[in-house]
Amino acid sequence: MFVFAKKADLAQHLAQIGTSKKTIGLVPTMGALHQGHLSLLQKSCSENQITVISIFVNPTQFNNSEDLEKYPRHVERDIEKVRTVSNDIIVFAPTVDDIYEGNTTAAAFEYDGLEFQMEGAHRPGHFDGVGTIVKKLFEIVQPTNAYFGEKDFQQLQIVKKLVEKYDIPVNVIGCPIHREANGLAMSSRNERLSSEAREEASLIYKTLLEAKQKFSTQSAKDVIDYVTQTFSKNPAFQLEYFEIADEATLLSATSKSSTKKYRGFIAVYINNIRLIDNIALN
Ligand code: PAJ
Repeated sequence: MFVFAKKADLAQHLAQIGTSKKTIGLVPTMGALHQGHLSLLQKSCSENQITVISIFVNPTQFNNSEDLEKYPRHVERDIEKVRTVSNDIIVFAPTVDDIYEGNTTAAAFEYDGLEFQMEGAHRPGHFDGVGTIVKKLFEIVQPTNAYFGEKDFQQLQIVKKLVEKYDIPVNVIGCPIHREANGLAMSSRNERLSSEAREEASLIYKTLLEAKQKFSTQSAKDVIDYVTQTFSKNPAFQLEYFEIADEATLLSATSKSSTKKYRGFIAVYINNIRLIDNIALN
């Protein structure tokens, strides 16, 4: 398995193996890999001749320095997990300096308003940081296909918008959310939860399923009230937001239209750890 820590070395290797005639799949990650990440890797391996995974905790997308500091990092263990999928995968695990060359700032991006909703509203600058790193990775790897999880549905829509706006020749492929047996969406941040909190956090998906059920007969407002009340009754959680939004525009649903697809989006704290999840409602 090839592991590169420098973009120049990766680019040279890709040139050597003649990628211009081969399909390349890219799976961008921040490491602390779990089955959700590995499912993206499996899909990429089955659809491309070459698969590259990047493992890079991108500082410019963190709006909270404690979150950045505490973000789990264990590249050696990650490499072993990648190996369980295939020995042929190319790992790109660069340093901050190699990527940012001494200028660790995000560029400003405009995503037709997608960036003002939910995660964008609650994490100022986050999607500028995501756009900055994803664009750099696309330039370095020049993938045919790039794989992103629906776990971060807003990010997936934003990356689709990024490639459209900048005319980047890459297919952005969305992949389903992988969950723990208790329904909790897999996340690198789950590592920081106590085992009790991990169990309690199953309430998030249970509530989303209930919200989906209710959405077939009730108004968006009633469903939002239901979710808000469920979490306010439970002192282990601090709900940051629950929104019902149109999948395409991410604008809040004011009334229901039969031609639109809606999703419920949640951000909630448990044990001071911020978790996000979402569910298709119709
Ligand atoms: P990270 O949180 O490591 O996630 C990497 C990719 O894995 C993202 O596309 C994310 O949506 C997907 N993913 C995470 N948990 C998942 C799950 N339970 N099921 C399915 N897919 C899941 O997202 C990022 O990193 C960064 O913002 C990044 C795109 C790498 C830019 O720095």
